Amino acid sequence: MSEIHDVRETVRRRYADLAVMAPAQAVCCGPGDACFGSTGYSEDDLGHLPQAVANASLGCGNPTAMAALAEGEVVLDLGSGGGIDVILSARRVGPTGRAYGLDMTDEMLELARRNASEAGADNIEFLKGHIEDIPLPDASVDVVISNCVINLSSDKSQVLREVARVLRPGGRLTVSDVVADEDMDEATRQDMEQWTGCVAGALTQDEYRYLLAAAGLSDVDVEVTHRVHPHAASAIIRASKPGPANQGQQTRGGTLMNEVPEVLFVCVHNAGRSQMAAALLTHLADGRVVVRSAGSAPAEAVNPAVVQALDEIGIDIRKEMPKLLTDEAVRSSDVVVTMGCGDACPVYPGKRYLDWKLDDPAGQGVEAVRPIRDEIKVRVEKLLGELLPADA
Ligand SMILES: C[S@@+](CC[C@H](N)C(=O)[O-])C[C@H]1O[C@@H](n2cnc3c(N)ncnc32)[C@H](O)[C@@H]1O
Repeated sequence: MSEIHDVRETVRRRYADLAVMAPAQAVCCGPGDACFGSTGYSEDDLGHLPQAVANASLGCGNPTAMAALAEGEVVLDLGSGGGIDVILSARRVGPTGRAYGLDMTDEMLELARRNASEAGADNIEFLKGHIEDIPLPDASVDVVISNCVINLSSDKSQVLREVARVLRPGGRLTVSDVVADEDMDEATRQDMEQWTGCVAGALTQDEYRYLLAAAGLSDVDVEVTHRVHPHAASAIIRASKPGPANQGQQTRGGTLMNEVPEVLFVCVHNAGRSQMAAALLTHLADGRVVVRSAGSAPAEAVNPAVVQALDEIGIDIRKEMPKLLTDEAVRSSDVVVTMGCGDACPVYPGKRYLDWKLDDPAGQGVEAVRPIRDEIKVRVEKLLGELLPADA
């Protein structure tokens, strides 16, 4: 096994054990029996959190307090652990924003999902993966936070390059992390317990500044907040991605979206429901939304009863043909609406997904299709109101 995998596996095992302990007793970060103690959470923050969430706090600061999170922003927490900072971020960005937590440890993800559901937060998504290979698209995040995690990685330059990739231009990084003193001794550096306890792998302040700049981030600032070890301190580290904010994109419904929103309707045959939804949205949006539809197994032709039901309300889709669903169509859409394609629908994190449960018009006459058409119209009008709130 390579060194990076060995280190990861040792780290994963330690945090899996802590995740299992956390619901019953408070756990904390630090090598061996040492304990950094989570700091910086206000009475107000803690007062809104279930005890189980506070118990599972393994950080060395409170990046959510320093990140100046605003309503509607998309936040990503690297190494989200039991979810404390994701849950606090979700409160700060509100229902129009979104908070992602990324962690590699199944036990932590399970704990975090339980904690988020106990906290009643629903603008949250926990993703399984490595911080060296973030499973989110380019330029999809407004703010990256992290709390006592980057020091645990054995490839920190790759982590910071990934941060630069997922941040949108003008986006920012605000993390709490341990920084090493220049003179941290070799014995400490080589001690695996000191590594999993967030000390041995820590960058020095200068190394942090260098790697952030090398990743293409600017406005770099490293501010020590308190000592956590004879050879290390906790710091708040800030940087931003150069570029104007929101180049051609804006946040709606918690997702960073194209200026002209793009919607994809997907069903199996692309002969009935998805064709009706696409035609209705095209008609109602009148050029303000890019609309596509596709099927995982497209039929030869659109259902004639569907063509007739739309013709009755003045929408002509006689020239439409069922189209094959492609990854590219999903990738370029802001919102993907599925209608019964189940596992055949590709899923990309960072998209807004809706699943509309509707009767299937396949093989039905126009009398059966009309109520399905009318229900789709109601849903399309609501979706349009969400996509273009000011114009609706
Ligand atoms: C010290 S805990 C911090 C947890 C959380 N940020 C907090 O403040 O409570 C470190 C977390 O990072 C996760 N982690 C460590 N290395 C990781 C990596 N390379 N990729 C993804 N997650 C990682 C661990 O599973 C653990 O949940």
